[in-house]
Amino acid sequence: MPASPITIAIDGPSGSGKSSVSKAVARTLGLAYLDTGAMYRALAWWCLERGTDLTDQAAVAQAARDLPLHVGTDPDAADVRVDGTDVTEAIRQTRISSQVSAVATNLDVRAELRRRQRELIDSLRAERGGVVVEGRDITTVVAPDADHRILVTASEQARLARRAAELHGGTAEEHLAATHDQIVRRDRDDATVSAFFEPADGVTGLDTSDLTFEQSVQAVLDLVTGRLAPQ
Ligand code: DC
Repeated sequence: MPASPITIAIDGPSGSGKSSVSKAVARTLGLAYLDTGAMYRALAWWCLERGTDLTDQAAVAQAARDLPLHVGTDPDAADVRVDGTDVTEAIRQTRISSQVSAVATNLDVRAELRRRQRELIDSLRAERGGVVVEGRDITTVVAPDADHRILVTASEQARLARRAAELHGGTAEEHLAATHDQIVRRDRDDATVSAFFEPADGVTGLDTSDLTFEQSVQAVLDLVTGRLAPQ
């Protein structure tokens, strides 16, 4: 645990590698890990489970306020539960990935989930010495005062290839086509409410297109420990 509490904010588009990199950084530094995307996914899951129309803005916002959510913050056990049901796997399903933007672009939902995220960050700083938080608006809105703010990016081609390999086990043309909606369309929708393609002022951009996973983790660790000058 570091001497004084630390917050590392990491944003990035889908397939940039920010989740696996954030987890590895948290593990290496002995910090907690907070996946804010999982919170939007859990809300989408709960709305679908209860038959709430995702386009009904008021009903979805109310669901966000009522959501009985638990998010695990151990990088090796980041389980997600809604009202006691383990939804860790269920929220990764394509039916959630393809519909979650409807929830994430609801501004009242964002206000409620950001409030919860800030509360979690405060308690993880106090109780666990700090946290690596990943999402789309962490460096800019949720924790603009974080000790380290990094935007992990990668070319569209690299992001498509990574997600295709993860979801479909290959990067052949049909795998890339099947992944296109999940990466390109979703990011376009999500980018209407958060800016995560270009680093904001004071945020360090890290392009991982040509980096291996290990190199990406090391680059973040170097930034955090001050061994690499921000670009
Ligand atoms: O990172 P992810 O794919 O698990 O994110 C799920 C959805 O939530 C996606 O539509 C982007 C959105 N999101 C967001 O708007 N703000 C965040 N801080 C995190 C995720």
